[in-house]
Amino acid sequence: MRKMILAAIALSFPALAFADAATDAVKARQDNMDARAAQVEILAKMAKGEIEYESAAAQEAAEKLVEVFSVDMSGFWLPGTSSEDMPGVSYAKPALWENGEKVGEIGKQAYMAAQDLVQLAGSSKEEMMAGLGAVGNACQDCHKIAQARKN
Ligand code: HEC
Repeated sequence: MRKMILAAIALSFPALAFADAATDAVKARQDNMDARAAQVEILAKMAKGEIEYESAAAQEAAEKLVEVFSVDMSGFWLPGTSSEDMPGVSYAKPALWENGEKVGEIGKQAYMAAQDLVQLAGSSKEEMMAGLGAVGNACQDCHKIAQARKN
């Protein structure tokens, strides 16, 4: 009996470790997404005229966006962490894992759009807006397939 209990405890540890790793991975990718949104929002506010367009600040936001995009996210998309596996915690659709290649391709395009934005953001408000539009479309292309709630 004692042996069985010990075995049960030993077995439950890897499961617990996985639960932690899974939650951490989801949190890490959501934090990265929020950091993207924070920079996009600064530029969107400038585009809408809610804050004044300022070349250096726009440039800085675009550079920070690329920095956030450059984080290696590959370890954050653990199998078993979809919105169906972890309802209320994860908002990544199972479609993300089913279409991994396509999602990866969209991710690359979004990254390239962010790099283009760095070239444009500091030049003029109009150019910043064009670059921001491309980035926004890329974010949405992915969210349409892979995100379980609208952002
Ligand atoms: C290659 C796919 C992909 C790209 C590109 C992408 N996202 Fe996401 N995003 C996701 C997925 C998947 C989730 C859901 C993550 C989860 O809940 O596990 C998400 C979630 C989010 C969230 C919610 C985070 C939270 O706290 O729950 C925000 C905000 C967000 N993305 C903003 C952006 C912005 C802004 C961009 C573009 C600059 C962007 N995303 C580009 C796939 C992507």
